Amino acid sequence: MSSKLVLGKIAFVTGAGSGIGRAVCQTLAREGACIIATDRNPEAVRETVGLLTRDAGQSHIALTMDVTSANSVNTSLQSAIEHFSRPPSIVVNNAGITKDNFILKTDERSFQDVIDVNLKGTFLVLQATAKAMSEAGITDGSIINVASIVGKWGNIGQANYSASKAGVEALTKTAAKEFGKLGIRCNAVLPGFIATPMTDTVPENVKAMFLSRVAAGRLGRPEEVAEVITFLASDRSSYVNGASVEVTGG
Ligand SMILES: NC(=O)c1ccc[n+]([C@@H]2O[C@H](COP(=O)([O-])OP(=O)(O)OC[C@H]3O[C@@H](n4cnc5c(N)ncnc54)[C@H](O)[C@@H]3O)[C@@H](O)[C@H]2O)c1
Ligand SMILES: *[C@@H]1O[C@H](CO)[C@@H](O)[C@H](O)[C@H]1NC(C)=O
Ligand SMILES: *[C@@H]1O[C@H](CO)[C@@H](O)[C@H](O)[C@H]1NC(C)=O
Repeated sequence: MSSKLVLGKIAFVTGAGSGIGRAVCQTLAREGACIIATDRNPEAVRETVGLLTRDAGQSHIALTMDVTSANSVNTSLQSAIEHFSRPPSIVVNNAGITKDNFILKTDERSFQDVIDVNLKGTFLVLQATAKAMSEAGITDGSIINVASIVGKWGNIGQANYSASKAGVEALTKTAAKEFGKLGIRCNAVLPGFIATPMTDTVPENVKAMFLSRVAAGRLGRPEEVAEVITFLASDRSSYVNGASVEVTGG
């Protein structure tokens, strides 16, 4: 077995321009994968690709893609397949948004926006990539969806976000059942409180309240989530399917 975890595999990562998505690209590249880094922010995703290691035979591409648009997902996946002459066997559904408020102050549009990116976006990418994998006869596929511990616990001010992430977990378990026989695994990772641009805006008092419940007594780093995702992407986790793996510091 090669010492690199995902040597020669092709990995499709959404929300790759920042935080956890960027760290996932870096870790998968370090472990030998060719990266298709996608984000709705073109500059950010190009910057990510500039940070990736490149050994002989390893190449990476940056694509501008909005996960809420089936058309955008289709076009990006199509050009990725043309570039590498085969579909990705690793898919990381990481794109996500928050913006919190209390339930009684949440309007319909705000609820819908979060569901569209976090839940529908995950569905669209999962559907398109699983279809491409099965058509290409890939039998070592691994799809990892980034949900959140908040989907299990709930959190004040995060009605839209927590509902979308619980949905991602249920979608993951269903995909695992539907694709298991094809050799395509699907798992979810549930981060706790991770230091990224997303959480930079959280007020200090809210951060302190959350941290008081974390056994490790500190925020997590994006790399600490990326290492778990990389394990789930690799064949080392070949019998892990339909699981929700918490990365919360306890
Ligand atoms: N940071 C945390 O504490 C934490 C905890 C639990 C779960 N998560 C989840 O981890 C994932 C990554 O979060 P992060 O903290 O790195 O956030 P981030 O804001 O740093 O990065 C998110 C990236 O997703 C991209 N994105 C947003 N909407 C998109 C769309 N419609 N199409 C394509 N790209 C889009 C953004 O441009 C950005 O580059 C999210 O799904 C988030 O919900 C984060
Ligand atoms: C994109 O859509 C076209 C038309 O529906 C379809 O033929 C093609 O297979 C799709 N590509 C991918 C990668 O799903
Ligand atoms: C989520 O809902 C809140 C209200 O609870 C709203 O203020 C926020 O804009 C919504 N998030 C997004 C990204 O639409």
